[in-house]
Amino acid sequence: MTTTPMGYGSMHRKEDARFLRGRGNYVDDIALPGMLHGAVLRSPFAHARIVSVDTSAAEAHPKVRAVITGETLAGLDLAWMPTLSHDVQAVLATDKVRFQGQEVAFVVAEDRYSARDALELIDVDYEALPPVVDARRALEPDAPVIRDDVEGRTDNHIFDWETGDKQATDDVFARADVVAVQDMLYPRVHPAPMETCGAVADMDPVTGKLTVYTTTQAPHAHRTIYALVAGLPEHKIRVVSPDIGGGFGNKVGIYPGYVCAVVGSIVTGKPVKWVEDRSENLMSTSFARDYHMRGELASTKDGKLLGIRVKVLADHGAFNGTAQPTKFPAGFFGVFTGSYDIEAAHCEVTGVYTNKAPGGVAYACSFRITEAVYLVERMMDVLAFDLDLDPAELRMKNLLRPEQFPYESKTGWEYDSGDYPRALRKALELVHYDELRAEQAKRREAGGENLLGIGVSFFTEAVGAGPRKHMDILGLGMADGAELRVHPTGKAVLRLSCQTQGQGHETTFAQIVAEELGISPDDIDVVHGDTDQTPFGLGTYGSRSTPVSGAATAVVARRVRDRAKIVASAMLEVSPDDLEWEKGRWFVKGDPEAGKSIQDIAMAAHSSLELPEGVEGHLDASCVYNPPNLTYPFGAYVCVVDVDAGTGQVRVRDFVAVDDCGVRINPMIVEGQVHGGLADGVGMALMQVMAFDEDGNHLGGSFMDYLLPTSMECPSWRLGETVTPSPHHPIGAKGVGESATVGSPAAVVNAVLDALKPYGVRHADMPLTPAAVWSALHGSPLRT
Ligand code: CDP
Repeated sequence: MTTTPMGYGSMHRKEDARFLRGRGNYVDDIALPGMLHGAVLRSPFAHARIVSVDTSAAEAHPKVRAVITGETLAGLDLAWMPTLSHDVQAVLATDKVRFQGQEVAFVVAEDRYSARDALELIDVDYEALPPVVDARRALEPDAPVIRDDVEGRTDNHIFDWETGDKQATDDVFARADVVAVQDMLYPRVHPAPMETCGAVADMDPVTGKLTVYTTTQAPHAHRTIYALVAGLPEHKIRVVSPDIGGGFGNKVGIYPGYVCAVVGSIVTGKPVKWVEDRSENLMSTSFARDYHMRGELASTKDGKLLGIRVKVLADHGAFNGTAQPTKFPAGFFGVFTGSYDIEAAHCEVTGVYTNKAPGGVAYACSFRITEAVYLVERMMDVLAFDLDLDPAELRMKNLLRPEQFPYESKTGWEYDSGDYPRALRKALELVHYDELRAEQAKRREAGGENLLGIGVSFFTEAVGAGPRKHMDILGLGMADGAELRVHPTGKAVLRLSCQTQGQGHETTFAQIVAEELGISPDDIDVVHGDTDQTPFGLGTYGSRSTPVSGAATAVVARRVRDRAKIVASAMLEVSPDDLEWEKGRWFVKGDPEAGKSIQDIAMAAHSSLELPEGVEGHLDASCVYNPPNLTYPFGAYVCVVDVDAGTGQVRVRDFVAVDDCGVRINPMIVEGQVHGGLADGVGMALMQVMAFDEDGNHLGGSFMDYLLPTSMECPSWRLGETVTPSPHHPIGAKGVGESATVGSPAAVVNAVLDALKPYGVRHADMPLTPAAVWSALHGSPLRT
């Protein structure tokens, strides 16, 4: 484990040295000379008209340098900014506030405490309006109109989107023996990274160059958006994303606080830091899910699936700021057919505004895939319940077969590769499924309050967005660049457009180069997170780094290898065709002793050696990788729970996860990614929800209310793997960062409901808190 492999294999993260010694450099660690501090005044109301804002007392505070309001920004044409979904969002409110915690004013002061104190001195006169908290209420004809900033708008409807074949689906439903129907909610949750969001904006009044140090998963996209929004020349903007303490989708968008820090710096001529606190993060910067779903599965009486029909009401909050490629208003929800061989499928999604925070980020998943997987995996258990079939057997009967790949789903997604039955068999063996069922039968027979539940889920993810002809964000095509330079002494630097947030990119991307060139990962520096130093690209989210930037890395390394071949041929005075590659060197075919190492070649490429016609010196390459397709990782998960029928308390006793992400670059990092995602799943299934009261007050503004799972709630995960390489990825790798977050919630919920089966409980919504389980057992399910 401690020795450094010359390529793929488990090695400790290179970045651990600085993280473990407290030498990380996060946005809040940045301190620039003369730096000022910003704080945001937020709305106490979910919906209210702003009558007046009096900032005079705050401005008189001795340490305050500027107070910015919506009116100030309106004067600069910056009061509203575009969202990632072609809507607009208020930077600072001018007319109304539309969710509790919305940004109303920004104070810039000499220190953080004075900025916060001065917020108290701002006097805002609000006229309260009735809020719309429930997405179903949003569509009622008499519902208050939230977005009356848009001329002519008379309702809260955002979009209707559909996919699949309605007629074909209706036809298979008409001839089905059985139709299982279930309403379910994937509640609003929050990514809650350890580090909250923040920015330090530094506008140099002399050079006119703006540097923004910020918590972003997509530095290049942020730079372009700043240029478009603020009308600043793009070459005069530098976005630096230093170490990031977790993103999970929370750091994809541009938040009002970032823009206010930039304006604060322009107005004062000094660097301005804004870093939100935990409550601000939970209340205002993004959310995830909030999908009200109705699933219908049609099948024969022996459980052969025929069709799936889905209706979704999607709560997008007060501004449609959902992060996803333009053509996909419901993200990649189109993969709701899951991992199954289904004859026909149809789905309709309606998006609505409510008086809640905007955002709709893909919290550790590829644009709404978690919702899709949860729906189909819950529906499989509902069907198994109705048919009294074993849920694992029902899945095995309907899983896609290896010979069906590449497989085009009924909604038009081309799954690249897979052997699904093998993964499910492996998971069932690892968990000792048959023995567990026998134990369960015995316990049920004996009666008592200690219930055993076994939950299965099977997921297919779709990760690695583009290609750019199908996918863009705000018009920016989803392709990513990479540049590799080998220095004269054979050490290398790799520059990437993606941005690690703790996933270990500095290690794994160096390992890809190591595998291709035979240079030790320790001799390869990975540079990212600085738009002045890296090639353009759309960044890291939706597990796209390995599928896109990982592919770009392999391509540039191979280009360097090809260049090295020509240099080696000049050194060895043979034709390039006479050379053969082994990791780290080119040698003459049939004469292994006559060879040159990549380090020798690097020196020669920079030397006075006469190179063949048309070959420039040095050893470097660049590429822009436009992925031909998404990659489709998959997995089979089994969760085992004990449920106390007396209290409703759930204990996760065992969890087996078999993941297939194609070729694994660093198995240890892959396992770490899976562990984190499984904990996410336990959190969402059992304890997390961003709840609101009927006035729109946010009830999850701290970690006392919004509960994160700890080691106390998590079992010792047991992992397995299968390896089915992606046929179109240069190294056969698929993404994995989010697989476990996608696959695990359904396994946990299915396990709890399996325990409750003897009580006739067919479904209950997440989170399955003790109160929710107890209520379900007593016939009155809780509604979130
Ligand atoms: O985009 P993001 O980094 O969040 O997700 P990812 O591409 O799935 O990668 C997460 C981490 O796992 C990275 O360090 C990858 O290089 C690593 N990984 C791996 O070692 N092998 C794979 N097949 C996939 C990811």
